[in-house]
Parts: sequence; structure tokens; C-alpha cells
Amino acid sequence: MLRKIITSEEIGSAVKRLATMIEKDHGGERIVFVCLLKGSFMFTSDLVRCVHNRTRVDFIRASSYGSGTQSKGMVEITKDIEEVIEGENVVIVEDIIDSGLTLKRVRDMLRERGPKSVRICALLDKRGRRQVEIEGDYVGFTLDDGFVVGYGIDYAEEYRNLPEIYVVEEGEESDS
Ligand code: IMP
Ligand code: MG
Repeated sequence: MLRKIITSEEIGSAVKRLATMIEKDHGGERIVFVCLLKGSFMFTSDLVRCVHNRTRVDFIRASSYGSGTQSKGMVEITKDIEEVIEGENVVIVEDIIDSGLTLKRVRDMLRERGPKSVRICALLDKRGRRQVEIEGDYVGFTLDDGFVVGYGIDYAEEYRNLPEIYVVEEGEESDS
């Protein structure tokens, strides 16, 4: 069963708030937005439309793996960005920060390429579940535990198309 926890209106105003902060921190400089696939495709597309700086948009994909049901400690980059980011202001756009392992791996890798700055913009932050020290510079909403879907975020690759954000609850299958 899906229970709505964040509406389109709430997402929209969070996106505008984050975009304003990003613009303020970067002055008139160019920004390279790095969309972490797949979960942040929708968030990225809304966010970049609210930022008026010169921008470039690129995509990266990471997948975490580990042994069986143990915590997924390893993060593999399965698709790298194509832009050269040396000297650029980078903003990594992520759907959810959970353990933090994915973002740490991606941020550390991008930092090695000599960008002027690397900041993190996350729609959702499950702060209580962190395994490594990493913070979002721009965070839309903070969540307690719970598995969420919608607005790009999936459960077994489904539900990404839902325009709002839902928490998955035990019980009957939802039709949505
Ligand atoms: P981390 O490396 O543990 O921080 O992994 C974060 C990634 O796990 C996110 O980008 C999501 O793809 C996935 N994830 C974490 N929590 C959820 C959730 O509640 N719903 C769907 N995916 C999630
Ligand atoms: Mg993800």
C-alpha cells in the first residue's frame, strides 16, 4: 500500500527553495549539474529549470553491491559523466541520501578531477541511516526510516512515474 507523504506542491516549493540557494552560492558562475541516475532524473529536470545560471547537465550511474543481504558496501560506477569538470562548479543531484555510500563514492571520484567546487543537492535525506560522513549542501526534505517511491524513485523499477512521493506500507498491493 502506498501512502502519500509529499505532494506536488510541496515538491515544487522545495525545488524553488533549493534552486534559489544554489544560485546564491554560485554567483553568476556556470554550474555543471550531475544527475545521479536513475532516481534523480525527475528532480534534476525540475531543478535545472529553476536555476538561471549558465548550466550544463550530465549523467552518472552508480550501483551498489555486496554479499547477499549484508549492507551493500561497494559502489560501482556503471556510467560516467562525459563533461570535463576541471575548474567547474559541480552540483551532484541525488534523490535520496541513505547510507551515504553512493554519494561519497561519486563525490570523491569527481573531486579527483580538479573541479572548482563540488556540492550535493538531495531531495530526501534519511539522516539517521548514515554509514559514512556525508552531508547534503541542499536538502529538500528529511525523512525518518521507511521506503519511499515516486517522483523518479522506484521500488523494483516501478513507480518512478508517480508525480508525488509515497511511503510503501505493509498490506495489500496498491493499484497505482
Ligand atoms: P546510499 O548509498 O545507501 O546512500 O543509497 C542511496 C540510494 O539508495 C538512493 O539513491 C536510492 O536509489 C536508494 N534508496 C534509498 N532509500 C530508498 C527508498 O526509500 N526508496 C527507493 N530507493 C531508495
Ligand atoms: Mg538512486
